[in-house]
Amino acid sequence: MASLTVRQIDEALKKKLRLRAAKNGRSMEDEVRTLLREAADEAGHAILENFEPSTKRSAARGRNVEPANGIACVLLIIAGGIAAYKSLDLIRRLRERDIHVRVVLTKAAQEFVTPLSVGAIAGEQPFTDLFNPAHEFDVGHIRLARECDLVIVAPATADLMAKLAGGHASDLATTIALATDKRVLLAPAMNPRMWSHRATQRNFAQLQADGVSFVGPNEGEMAEAGEAGTGRMAEPLEIVAAIERLLAPSSERPLAGKTIVITSGPTHEPIDPVRYIANRSSGKQGHAIAAAAAAAGANVTLVSGPVNVPNPPGVRVVHVESARDMLAAVDRALPADIAIFAAAVADWRVDNAYKEKIKKSPGARTPSLSLTENPDILSTVAHRTKQRPQLVIGFAAETQNVLANARTKLAAKGCDWIVANDVSPSTGVMGGDRNTVMLVTRGGVENWPPQSKDGVAAKLVARIAEALRQ
Ligand code: CTP
Repeated sequence: MASLTVRQIDEALKKKLRLRAAKNGRSMEDEVRTLLREAADEAGHAILENFEPSTKRSAARGRNVEPANGIACVLLIIAGGIAAYKSLDLIRRLRERDIHVRVVLTKAAQEFVTPLSVGAIAGEQPFTDLFNPAHEFDVGHIRLARECDLVIVAPATADLMAKLAGGHASDLATTIALATDKRVLLAPAMNPRMWSHRATQRNFAQLQADGVSFVGPNEGEMAEAGEAGTGRMAEPLEIVAAIERLLAPSSERPLAGKTIVITSGPTHEPIDPVRYIANRSSGKQGHAIAAAAAAAGANVTLVSGPVNVPNPPGVRVVHVESARDMLAAVDRALPADIAIFAAAVADWRVDNAYKEKIKKSPGARTPSLSLTENPDILSTVAHRTKQRPQLVIGFAAETQNVLANARTKLAAKGCDWIVANDVSPSTGVMGGDRNTVMLVTRGGVENWPPQSKDGVAAKLVARIAEALRQ
């Protein structure tokens, strides 16, 4: 009804109306409604019945349905990548959870999924064009950008990320991302070389600094034969988990808007192409902290050494092998608000690791390894004057004099807190599911009771949130 009315008015009036709507930050339809409401104040309110959007009326006409009150509404932008097919499942999963999904398809996305299939799954027609008069008069890009609780871009291609980082408004998707006052979540998907390219990493850092949240990308096989690495879009259920976290009330997300980098697991230092120096760290504690921080709403990058534990949900995981790779990955993840170093980094590596496998032959001498010290990642980051995170937390894995050694490490490494634990074999901490820690700060020492590693992670995240509040 309203769009018919707008379309029927003459061009000069339409132009005035468009200017007035833009000035007031409303869509054309909202502007008309406001004018009518003002008129109705004089003529009696019954007249409004004819102009207010009605779910039933719109559905009967096959038009888009207004999200019902109290139901979360997300705006999903699907960009042009092969992972777009997974977004159909994402829509289905969100609708199963009673989340209203409005969809915008970029031009390139329509090469991978059709408006018809998206519309059938979403239960309403997707939006495709910034200059589509029917949509602009009916809903309008400003309303699309604002009348949702969250904007999601899945898959987010390298091209779209570049445009978003640059503040482009060249089509409906980029215009919405620029005009929205809601949180934006990106699920990147691209070839690993494109993801690791400096330009993409620059855009990623820029978007993070602008407050955009990320889920994935994950490691794995690519659609292109023989290609593997970081670049796979997060699985639909991982994206749903990230969405639910962002939609949760702020009291349940005390670390919302904070960026955290966490190291976890052991490092492997090569001796030759098949042998390495390692330690018994399982990564369970560091991974649990990453999961707890993500659940508290933080944007988490987990730099993990080789482990057998699964990637925590909603966390960007960078897998590395050696201490030097770990430091480089941490550097790429900075700046961050908080850094937590839970990894058991090898203190030494083999100086000039052998290029070929060391062979044993009769009469040959037993090889001797010359070791050189690895960089201390915690100390390097904590002593930075530029880009030092606001809160730097280290761990102290000790087998004796736990508190004294922890205090020495706190001072020597220049960090703010040390989480100290006794890792003697009798404690079962290394590789086990439980931990007994003490939190050592410059203000004192807290002895935490024995508990699961998840419990330690939750308590640490709560303490971080408390410290940031103060
Ligand atoms: N750490 C690090 N880089 C290293 C060594 C340690 O980032 N090359 C960090 C660990 O992640 C942890 C803290 O420093 O947060 C303490 O690690 P720990 O293994 O307990 O102590 P070390 O520094 O290795 O000292 P030592 O082996 O003498 O106890």
